[in-house]
Amino acid sequence: MPADAPAVIHVLNGPNLNLLGQRQPEIYGYETLADIEARARTALAPGFDLLMRQSNHEGVLIDWVHEARSAACAIIINPGAYSHTSIALLDALNAYEGPVIEVHLSNIHRREAFRHHSYVSLRAEGAIVGLGAEGYVAATRHLCALLQRG
Ligand code: DQA
Repeated sequence: MPADAPAVIHVLNGPNLNLLGQRQPEIYGYETLADIEARARTALAPGFDLLMRQSNHEGVLIDWVHEARSAACAIIINPGAYSHTSIALLDALNAYEGPVIEVHLSNIHRREAFRHHSYVSLRAEGAIVGLGAEGYVAATRHLCALLQRG
């Protein structure tokens, strides 16, 4: 964990994820980001909190990763389509010292070939794909256990 970082996990969501619940529900499900946040909160260990954020803008996500350097004990990130395109987001995550878990609601490996590669996976300790909202819950539970072990 970054030195003196508060026990807050930053959950960063990229473009179009504000439309969860309405957007291609046959792929992404009917739960909204607020529903996903509520579910992830149930997996928080005592003393931990999470901050759920979403932006459609690459630079904003990068700024949030920079902010996490001193404000977050860990990052869960669903970069949306920026997973497959953004070396800048990878560079930002490489400048973050805590654990990073990448989450995708859908199984990107059984979709179009352009989704099979993720730049963010080069940095993430783990990646959870295809479990829908449950992926955020599992990532939260894992990070709390990891950080509690020190
Ligand atoms: C996604 C998968 C990406 O390929 C896509 O661009 C998204 C959502 C997912 O959660 O399954 O926006 O990250």
